[in-house]
This record gives sequence, C-alpha cells and structure tokens, in this order.
Amino acid sequence: MDRKWWKEAVVYQIYPRSFMDSNGDGVGDLQGVILKLDYLRELGIDVIWLSPINKSPNDDNGYDISDYRDIMDEFGTMQDFDELLHEAHLRGIKIMLDLVVNHSSDEHPWFIEAKKSKDNTYRDYYMWHPGKEDGSEPNNWGSRFGGSAWEYDENSGEYYLHIYSKKQPDLNWENPALRGEVYDLMTFWLDKGVDGFRMDVINMLSKAEGLPDGKVREGFKYGDGVPLYCDGPKIHDYLQEMNREVLSKYDIMTVGETLGVNVEQAKLYTGADRNELNMVFHFEHVFLGDGKLGKWSPGPWKLTELKTIMSRWQYGLREDGWNSLYWSNHDQPRAVSRFGNDSPEYRTISAKMLATCLHMLQGTPYIYQGEEIGMTNVRFDKLSDYRDIQTVNAYRDFVGGEQLSHPEMMESIYQRSRDNGRTPVQWSAGSNAGFTEGTPWIGVHENHKEINVERDRKDPDSIYHYYRKLIQLRKEHGIIVYGTYDILMEENEQIYAFTRTLEEEQLVVICNFSEQLPVFEFPRHIQFSSKQLLISNYTVDTNDEIATITLRPYEARVYRLV
Ligand code: GLC
Ligand code: CA
Repeated sequence: MDRKWWKEAVVYQIYPRSFMDSNGDGVGDLQGVILKLDYLRELGIDVIWLSPINKSPNDDNGYDISDYRDIMDEFGTMQDFDELLHEAHLRGIKIMLDLVVNHSSDEHPWFIEAKKSKDNTYRDYYMWHPGKEDGSEPNNWGSRFGGSAWEYDENSGEYYLHIYSKKQPDLNWENPALRGEVYDLMTFWLDKGVDGFRMDVINMLSKAEGLPDGKVREGFKYGDGVPLYCDGPKIHDYLQEMNREVLSKYDIMTVGETLGVNVEQAKLYTGADRNELNMVFHFEHVFLGDGKLGKWSPGPWKLTELKTIMSRWQYGLREDGWNSLYWSNHDQPRAVSRFGNDSPEYRTISAKMLATCLHMLQGTPYIYQGEEIGMTNVRFDKLSDYRDIQTVNAYRDFVGGEQLSHPEMMESIYQRSRDNGRTPVQWSAGSNAGFTEGTPWIGVHENHKEINVERDRKDPDSIYHYYRKLIQLRKEHGIIVYGTYDILMEENEQIYAFTRTLEEEQLVVICNFSEQLPVFEFPRHIQFSSKQLLISNYTVDTNDEIATITLRPYEARVYRLV
C-alpha cells in the first residue's frame, strides 16, 4: 500500500460560524480560529477542514458563494486568512478549504450578468431551460431544500436549475469557460499555500442527458433527481480534467462529498490510477434508520446494519482507493446522540467507544468540532430558534402539507436537524459557553455548564484526552493507518469487533455499542505471543484472561498482538 501523508492525517472540521467569535458580534470568525490553534495543536490534529469562508449572502451559511476569491465579511478579511494560514503552518497544521462549485450564490456577478439576457456571455455559466409545452418546469426534480428545483425568470421566460435553494443556482459544467474559471480560482487558493479541498457535493456536477423526470416517491410532490444528477455521465471527465489542470500540480489532499455514492462508484473517484480524488464521503451510515420522509421520519437501526455498511467500505477499498471516516459533520446530528448514548450516565463512555471504533477503522478520520468533548444534540423549544434553511423549509413542507404533526416534526428535528451540529462550540461554563461576548447567532446548548472544553482539558479521564491519545496512537503505530481490516462476530447485535493486520502484527478492536454486557469470544484463529492493551475506555486489569471478555456498557478495547 502506498504511503501518503493524507492517509496518516487526522482532520478536524471547523464550521467557522459556530467555532469561536473574536469580536463580539455573535458570529464565529477567522480570528476566532487563530485564537484556538494552540488548542488544536495540543489535540494533535494534522489538518483543518474549514467550511466555506468565501463572500456569501448566507442563504445556506456560506455554501452559497458570491465571490470565490474573497472572505465573508463576518469572518474577516484576506489578511486574517493569510494570518490564519501562516499561524496554522507554523504549528504544523494544514488547511483544507471547502470548494463549493456545483452552484454559486445568485448574488455572484456571474449570475447577475447571466440573468440580464439570453445572449449574455455568462448566460451559459448556469443551467437555463425553457418550460414544458404547458409552461411548467422543465422537469419534476425537487430541490433538496424543498419545492421545485427550477425557478422561473420573468425576464427571459426561462427557468434555471437549483438543486439547493433558489439562491444557489447550479453552475453549468458543460461549459468549458466555466470549468476554466473554477480551475483558476482553485489555483488562486493553492498558490496561496492551502493544502487541499473538501469538495461540496462534487458528484453532482454532471446531470443526466436530457434532464429526464425523476421517480415520484410516496409522500413526495416532486420527483427524486438524485439518480439523475449524481454520478452523471461526464463526472469522471470533469474530475480528471480538474486533476490534470490543477490538483496534480500540488501535493495536496482532496475529499469529495458524494451524495448517494456506492463502493463501486467510490473506486472510480478514488482509485490510485484514476487521477481524480484522494477519498470521498459516502452517506450510507448516516442514512441509517431513515424512513419514508428520509431523515424527517427517522426510525430504529441495527448494529448489524451499521457493521455491514462499514465492512462493505472497508473491504471494498482495501486494495485500491481510500476511505474517509466520520460520525458527524455540520449537516449531521452530534455523533454521541446519533450513534452512542447521550444520557448523563453513558455520554462519556459511549463517546469514547465511538471514537475508538472510528479511529481504528482503515481510512482518514474526521473529527467534527465539539465531538472531542462529546457535545450533544440540542432541543430548542420553538421552530423560530432554528436557523437552518433545510430544517425551516422541511417544517413548512411536511407540517404545512399535513404529513407530520407539529410534535412529530419537532421530534424529528431534535434527532436529525443540521442545527444540532451548529450550536456554538462549548469552550467554558461561562456566559454563552465562552463562544461570544455578544448575542450568538444561534442558541448555545444549555448543557455547556457540564460539557465544555475547559472542564475536559482539566480532567485526565475526559473524552478530550481520550481523543488526544487516539490521535497519538495513530502517529506511533503504522498498523492503524495501513493494516487491513477483517470483521469478527459479524452477526452480533451488541459488539462491533474487527482486526487490523500488518505483516506479523495485529490489532483486535472490540466495541460494545450497547448498555448490555455481551461476551466477546477471543477468536481461536488468532495466534500471538504477546498482547498489549493499546487503549480502553474503562480500567482494565492487563493480567486479565482475554479468552472471553464480558464487556461493560459501551466498553471499548484495542489490543495489539505480536
Ligand atoms: C453540502 C453541504 C451542505 C450544503 C449543501 C449545498 O451537502 O455540506 O451544508 O447545504 O452541500 O451546498
Ligand atoms: Ca465575529
């Protein structure tokens, strides 16, 4: 297996709006990130992925960019960015930017021009189409933020496509001039010294030929465009061209956000000879339990389902390609609430168990801000406390359309709203959790009195120090990066256990995902002359017999065998 720095790295995702506010306006900013760089160095991470920092009217918190070469006013200036990059590099931390080029903001000068007339030079930077014969939308695709994916433009009598909000018009990748602009802006940032890109919904660049209607699923008004706008016919041409024109010229890291992708497709995006991307984010595990209305009707899921998904990816990309590993991000609920147990009794122990499991799988692990102290989902009383456009629109559609009652929808929001991941990082027990001296743009979680960075750093037994140790282990043991994965006890509904193997060395990873006390049977086929407990979330007597282990609730252990 090829050694690469981005395989060995641990990435920490910052959602700048909610990370740290340096000037009291209630919005996190770049100077706020600079203030916390020493904290991140101490945690031990190698790379920061910054969610979008470009100029934006913030219809979707920066995922709607109006100037790709400038910084969002609320986040600071280009000088602040240069300082951040410099200060991060001084500490050995790399910076990966979010590249949002499936769509721009409707306030981008390209779109403002494009709207002027059908023969404007920028018209073909976007996807304009006349309506059907009866004047209705060109096809039945629904927007991912509710309503139709098409917006009518009076002026020209045509529609433009927006897979997300109508303030996020899709860029037309068929147009070589547009592609050239994107490569130029990427080069602009790379020449500044940034270390890579996380590419927003990058598998949506190429849409199906002729833009056919999607299937209308039960409970929905619009057609499902996902199979038609994801992994389209020209996507690999575009990414190979991007690689040739830009990526291949730098020693950087790339990760594509790829909605709906499966392992076979992921091989095409990440295969070593494909010259496209280093790795992709798939969604299979975060879709677990989704019901008829997707995440807005969440149901139960089984550990065996999670194991099947993780294993499929571990085996699938074992020989070629590379995995990214994540439990949460700015679009997902908090890891411990989603996959662990956020009750006071089990929050700490289950957060450590989840971290063990993820960091011991093969791939590059991503930590989402606040995960390292076990931040949890939030329950705001009123819909008006929610800021996320997706949440607010879904409430309007599903409660308005009488598919869900108000209490049902609020329960779904508590489980799955993107705002769960967007409440401010809890730095201290102080006012506004030490995030801001002003009024935060979104409510601070009331549990910041108990759950905060200051407290976790002081407590040697905290989730934070456990993450530090996991990150340290990765630096010391190549097997954590390069060892091959094999599942154990596949059918078990409480225990997720697997091995990692590198030449003569082996790791045995044992994670109890339940409150119960299941028994782990040490597999007979594993031969070893000595064992070492690398990490565990409970105290373990290292002289203990390990032929059978009765696990405690959410217990996790990693043994190294030689
Ligand atoms: C990605 C981002 C999400 C954003 C969407 C549109 O899924 O992670 O936050 O809303 O793309 O840019
Ligand atoms: Ca600020």
